[in-house]
Amino acid sequence: MNDLDSLVQQAQADFAVAADPTALDAAKARFLGKSGAITQQLKSLGQRSPDERRTVGARINAAKSDIESLLEARREALRDEALAAQLSAEALDVTLPGRGAGKGGLHPVSRTLERIEALFRSIGFEVADGPEIESDFFNFTALNTPENHPARSMHDTFYLEGDDAVLLRTHTSPVQVRTMRAHVAAFGDRAHMPEIRVIIPGRVYRVDSDATHSPMFHQVEGLWVGENISFADLKGVIADFLRKFFETDDLQVRFRPSFFPFTEPSAEIDVGFMHGEMKGRWLEIAGCGMVHPNVLRHGGIDPERYTGFAFGMGPDRLTMLRYGINDLRLFFEGDLRFLSQFR
Ligand code: FA5
Ligand code: MG
Repeated sequence: MNDLDSLVQQAQADFAVAADPTALDAAKARFLGKSGAITQQLKSLGQRSPDERRTVGARINAAKSDIESLLEARREALRDEALAAQLSAEALDVTLPGRGAGKGGLHPVSRTLERIEALFRSIGFEVADGPEIESDFFNFTALNTPENHPARSMHDTFYLEGDDAVLLRTHTSPVQVRTMRAHVAAFGDRAHMPEIRVIIPGRVYRVDSDATHSPMFHQVEGLWVGENISFADLKGVIADFLRKFFETDDLQVRFRPSFFPFTEPSAEIDVGFMHGEMKGRWLEIAGCGMVHPNVLRHGGIDPERYTGFAFGMGPDRLTMLRYGINDLRLFFEGDLRFLSQFR
């Protein structure tokens, strides 16, 4: 094997081990650079005879062009390798599990409202609603609470500027009369008017704020009007509901005589805390009573023929009792560290 052939082989071997363009350039310089092996060979041609110069020169040039093509091939191979490495480094693995959007959950009071609705639907109640901005008439007057009645002062609220006749409702009871009127409009001409059996969940407002009072809170009104509806029905429905809601037959419940202008007789319902630091204490969860005849009349219903019971309960308080929470304002502060515990 002559010198030139082994130079070409040497170049091929050197190029093969050059792992990147810089190493390849260094290897190229050893053969094709100013003092590279091939350049040396060409320089030495000057000492040869013209005949030899031609034949040897041709062989050197052939070796040089072989080395150049080896160099080019290796360059290309390095470029391909770099591209392949980049592609695999940047590849998207579509089989990786997604990062996902933070999973939300229902607010604890919304859970309570859903439970209440499901339990009352299961005993034949419908779910209705009414406006949060209410007229003075429906919020008070239609509920047997005329202007200057002292009971109005128990419901201090937010009136709309410039219009005393409109306010943020202080309870869901105004929807009682709205519901009766709609019911009478739909069925009043029948010989046997179907019963009204409805619950009305919604937001209500009062100038209140402490551990068991929030200025915005929720109520669920209940209304059952028909022939021969009695206070015993009221107690039965409430007791049954509470046992199902708290999932225990062993529940402390008491009906405490009370007063509302729109019911007679009236009571308030207290439940004892079962766990948490409030254990052993009573919390009022609802007001209730037999619908006052004047309220039935405002609803267009004959109090001589029909009777009914109504209640207004506080689902925020039921949520406190269910989870053993001692301050209901926590529900409305929007702190996710608190709320996410209920997911
Ligand atoms: C009423 O609002 C009557 N409308 C209830 C009623 C309806 C009586 C139908 C008779 C017939 P009271 O003001 O007691 O009553 O409120 C009812 C319930 O709402 C309370 O027992 C309590 O559970 C809840 N509640 C009252 N104020 C607040 C408040 N500021 N924050 C949270 N819950 C409250
Ligand atoms: Mg009360």
